[in-house]
Order: sequence, then C-alpha cells, then structure tokens
Amino acid sequence: MVRKKIVRRAGIVSVGKYMPPNVVTNFDLEKIVDTSDEWIRERTGIIERHMVKNGEKQSDLALIASREALARAGWSPKDLDMIIVGTVTPDHIFPSSANLLAGKLGAIGAPSYDVLAACSGFLYSLWQGVVAIESGRADRVLVVGSEIMSTLINWEDRSTCVLFGDGAGVVLLKAVDAPYGIHDMEIGSDGRFYDLLHMKAGGSAYPATHETVEKRMHTLYMEGSEVFKLAVRKMTEISESLLERNRIRPEQLGCFIAHQANIRIIDSTTKRLRLKPNQVYNNIDKYGNTTSATIPTCLYEAEEQGMIKKGDWVLLISFGAGLTWGGILMKWAVDRLPKTEEVAVDTVSDVLSTKLRPGGDWANQ
Ligand code: ACO
Repeated sequence: MVRKKIVRRAGIVSVGKYMPPNVVTNFDLEKIVDTSDEWIRERTGIIERHMVKNGEKQSDLALIASREALARAGWSPKDLDMIIVGTVTPDHIFPSSANLLAGKLGAIGAPSYDVLAACSGFLYSLWQGVVAIESGRADRVLVVGSEIMSTLINWEDRSTCVLFGDGAGVVLLKAVDAPYGIHDMEIGSDGRFYDLLHMKAGGSAYPATHETVEKRMHTLYMEGSEVFKLAVRKMTEISESLLERNRIRPEQLGCFIAHQANIRIIDSTTKRLRLKPNQVYNNIDKYGNTTSATIPTCLYEAEEQGMIKKGDWVLLISFGAGLTWGGILMKWAVDRLPKTEEVAVDTVSDVLSTKLRPGGDWANQ
C-alpha cells in the first residue's frame, strides 16, 4: 500500500464501552450443546460472554458507548464531522447502523456509514477516520465497533456457538500534536478464503427463503483450525512489519491489543513477538469474541486500568472473516481520561428510549 507524507497526525482522545448486562457462562452453554466449561476455557480462554436479552439493538449498544466517550471528552454530538461503524450485525441491511446512531445521537448532517470487515471492522473503520483527519477533510470523528453476534449463532454447532458475545466500544479521533497520535497503519484482505468464515444467506446471493432458514444458512459458519493458523501467521507478520519500519523494538511497546478470537491465537502471536504478559491486554475471558468490538473494549479497559499512559506505544492488530486484517501503531495522545462516574452520562434506560425525529431540525423547516 502507498504511504504518503502525513500533513497532520490523528490521535484517539476518548473511549467508551457498553456491554449488555446479561451474562452467559460456559456452564449455561453446557445445558444447550455437548460442551464443557473445561473445553471452552482450555481451547479458547473464554469463561463467559454478554448477550442482549431486553430488546437492545446494535445501534443502542453503540449509542450508549458513544455517549460515554463524548461525555468524557466534553464533546457534543454536533461537534462530530463523521461517524463510522464497524459491524457485521447492523440493525438492518439498510440504512446503515451508523445512520441510526447519528440520528439517535443528534449528529444531524454528519456523514455516517458502516464498514463491513468482520473482526477487522473496527481497525478498518479507524483507518478511515484517521485518513479523513490526516487529509484535513474531518476534524472530529467517532469510530465504533458494535455487534450483536448472538443473532448469528447456530445453537446446534458447538464449535462456534461457544465463541461469540455482544458488546460495543468506541473511540473519538482528532488531530493531535507531535509526537503523539497514529504513526503508522496497515490494512489488507484476501477474498480467496471467504468461505472459511462466512454467513451464506441474507445477502443478494441467497435471499431469505424457507429453505435458507431451514438449512441454517443465516448463521455463522467457520473452519476454525484453518482460520487459527492463518490468524497467527498474519497477526505476527503485520506486527513485525509495523514495528520494524518504525524502528520500535517489541520491548518498547506499552500495550499490545490483538483481536480477541482465541487466547491461544493471541498467546502464539505474542510469544513469536517476544512480548511480556504485562505488555498485553486481553478481555476474552469476560466477553468472548465480540467481533468488531473486541479491540475498542480492550483499549477502554487498558486505559481505565492505567496500563496505557500518555506517550506509550500502543499496537492494535486484527484478523478475521474476509479474510481481512489490520494493524495500527500509535503513541497514546492523552493523559488519564475522566472516569465515567465523574462525567454526566445518560442512564441506559434514557438512551434506550431515545426517539428519532424529535422535531425542530432541517426537515421540519
Ligand atoms: N466443546 C467440546 N468439544 C468441541 C467443541 C466444544 N465447544 N468445539 C469443538 N469441539 C471438538 C471437535 O468436535 C473436535 O473433536 P474431534 O477431535 O472428536 O473431532 C475437537 O474438539 C477439536 O476440534 P477443533 O476444531 O480442531 O478445535 P480447535 O482446537 O481448533 O478449536 C476453535 C476450535 C476454538 C474454533 C479454534 O479453531 C479457533 O479459535 N479458530 C480461530 C477463530 C478465529 O480466529 N476466527 C476469526 C475471527 S471471527 C470473525 O471474523 C467473525
């Protein structure tokens, strides 16, 4: 990919997160499929995951996380120039979840769209937000990873139904002063392997019919062990290439966050990179694989726990369906963010009752 000289650098200046409160443990899954807590923990690192139960939509999870990030930064939704949502589980095929999120937030007029890159959805979205700021086309961008993966699960397939969870994480981007912000990034894909991990029906190739429903073609299918090997190889390769070309040694990294698909994939990658456990943040044990939400929720928690401080090198790496991959290297740009309890954030019920089209805007004039 062509690398151009950057006029100004973008940085992450706030983060937000929302996990639906309903927790599903491995023991709960033992009652549904032929599996065990021991197998799931040892083979994946997952102990529990959160899944929606009260009718929350994917755009609602995104909305709650977005409101938190905006409040922590002291921004109004009206400040936003652009809203990008990485997701494979939008509320509807169209319009995009980003359109709904913008409407619910009151960010009227801001361009908003979804990015479909599966587990790389957040890094692809972040890449676009960064490019918009670097080019001067946008000053303030909201980037979201939000998923309700529980709607894509085949509850008769034990090899996939234990892996996924629901949740949302968001970041706010703006131009920051040197030496902070995003120094380098890389995204890529190889569609020859699309069938290793896909949902066959629901698009124009196989629109919904009785047959597609009966054959469970609206659920996720994965050849796990093939994806596993490719994930380790690619995540190691991108990490090494980003570190080497920016002359950063692995031991200089303050925080390494990889897409949370399987703890054994992450451990194999970090071992190859010779990273120490205190340089790596994971939350797969609590949330499972939340697809595009894994990286922003890890970032949120690593910052909250004081693991990421201003000036630290942070490396984000993803790999998933497509196949798609990405890596983003940054020097963390902000001092500790205010804790959520120190800023006014709407309650979950306020957010869920948000009405679209409250009136008084351009459409009513
Ligand atoms: N409980 C008990 N046994 C199970 C379960 C389960 N939940 N699932 C599979 N098994 C069994 C299999 O049937 C098989 O049994 P057999 O040997 O008798 O045939 C055995 O366990 C081993 O199966 P594998 O599929 O080889 O197990 P593996 O160790 O590869 O783990 C897993 C499977 C967890 C899916 C792993 O391959 C993986 O994590 N793959 C990569 C996932 C990934 O990175 N995805 C990309 C991102 S997701 C996205 O983009 C949306």
